[in-house]
Amino acid sequence: DFEKMNVTKIKNSKNNKKLTMITAYDALFAKLFEEVADMILVGDSLNMSFAGMPDTLSATLDQMIYHTKAVCKGAPKAFVILDMPFGTYINENQALENAVKVYQETNAAAVKIEGGEDRADIIKHLTSNSVAVMGHIGLMPQYVRSEGGYKVRGKTQEDTEQLIRDAIAVEKAGAFAIVVEGVMSDAALKITEAVNIPIIGIGAGNVTDGQVLVWSDMLGFFEDFKPKFVRHYLNGAQLVKESVNQYRSDVQDSSFPSKDEEY
Ligand code: KIV
Ligand code: NA
Repeated sequence: DFEKMNVTKIKNSKNNKKLTMITAYDALFAKLFEEVADMILVGDSLNMSFAGMPDTLSATLDQMIYHTKAVCKGAPKAFVILDMPFGTYINENQALENAVKVYQETNAAAVKIEGGEDRADIIKHLTSNSVAVMGHIGLMPQYVRSEGGYKVRGKTQEDTEQLIRDAIAVEKAGAFAIVVEGVMSDAALKITEAVNIPIIGIGAGNVTDGQVLVWSDMLGFFEDFKPKFVRHYLNGAQLVKESVNQYRSDVQDSSFPSKDEEY
């Protein structure tokens, strides 16, 4: 029952159907997710899980474009969103130039931008120039150095009110949906009720209009630690290690390749 998504269908999903989003960084996995997920995010989280860096800040637009091309090739029917990396949307003109480059060089359907009230003008400039924008508020990984770490948001009434203002500002700026990351679930509910566009949660409880997870987290390939909000649907790391160990032992005792596996 796969149905190709567009911004209208995504907006109409609010109060109707929960949306499923997953990240992908390459054609192989994108193809596996293509007809299952409503949206595929080429997240700048690839700077950690693909490139091995400690945070998302050093991801470049060319890197994001390279991975987005691969994802779009592997999953041509998917609604693909590219994360605009840190420093590529610091003012309206630069943001639009970079978003136009994304549309010219990839088949991404939309771009995602971190920021609330502080970035509303930039989002407005993009949407009024026909770029589809997904917002991202709450815990924003691109703010990690300026905030001094990753902090769960919405713990006080004051912060919750700020998050609601952020969501409303992003909606008014023309975004078609908003990722809400790392927010207390009671605050996430208030945010979800405050806007008419879908709220896609991660670490924000089950009260939002949909969920997003990083593929390597949900499939258990990332072993260093498991954030509270992640559910492992596969023990990827363990399965891979067992398989590669088996391969080595088959090589060592010459049971691989067998007669059936030779020319
Ligand atoms: O980069 C990313 O993967 C993201 C999601 C966690 C929302 O922004
Ligand atoms: Na991101």
